[in-house]
Amino acid sequence: MTDTEDLKRRAAVRALEEVRSGMVLGLGSGSTVAHFLDVLGTALAEGALTDLAGVPTSVHTAREAERLGIPLITLAEHPSLDLTVDGADEVTPDLDLIKGMGGALLREKMVAQASRRLVIIGDERKAVTRLGTVSSLPVEVVDWEWQGHVDYLEQRGAHVIVRTSDGGVPFKSDNGNLILDCRFEGGIDDPRTLDDELHHRAGVVETGLFLGLAAQAILAGTDGLRVIRRNP
Ligand code: A5P
Repeated sequence: MTDTEDLKRRAAVRALEEVRSGMVLGLGSGSTVAHFLDVLGTALAEGALTDLAGVPTSVHTAREAERLGIPLITLAEHPSLDLTVDGADEVTPDLDLIKGMGGALLREKMVAQASRRLVIIGDERKAVTRLGTVSSLPVEVVDWEWQGHVDYLEQRGAHVIVRTSDGGVPFKSDNGNLILDCRFEGGIDDPRTLDDELHHRAGVVETGLFLGLAAQAILAGTDGLRVIRRNP
């Protein structure tokens, strides 16, 4: 395992301590969550945790959970979740996030909003003081007349790239939408205003700005684990 994978796994193992038998979980997406699914599956197989079910935030996570014997459930069956564990692309000290480099931002936000607690896991590279300084901001849009959103975002200072899959074809999210990756030179000045504006724009499905949603972040560095908690 590489050093980075080892750090991701340490954060995942620490997050497992937040899980209790009987909980209904939100299951995030991405390479760090892959470690969490693995340790969760092992805990279930060994009987250390029982009576769990999870809502997956992507088709990939659903497949992995099934493979690992983690029972799945839907939000329709269980609209309120006890805990969601997910990764992030950026985490500020106030627990604002950028998410969605894996393309699962819409389902991740729906699951996060349905959860009593959102716990973020990652390695220390995800820690930033200002959103948009390390990661692009993913914006999910319907593919009808998507070019207008590029102009709109560029007027707000973004350099926009339409996400592509291997082979150069446009990437489609699990919901069949396009992702516009927006790079803001020096970071995003006012994430809340930008998020509000984008949500008022027809054709924009969701943004990767997760503001005020996370309760806790577990970030693993070479000198140990750092746990950031939201002030009550
Ligand atoms: C998936 O769409 C994302 O929100 C991921 O949670 C995020 O990109 C973090 O992924 P990694 O754990 O792979 O860095």
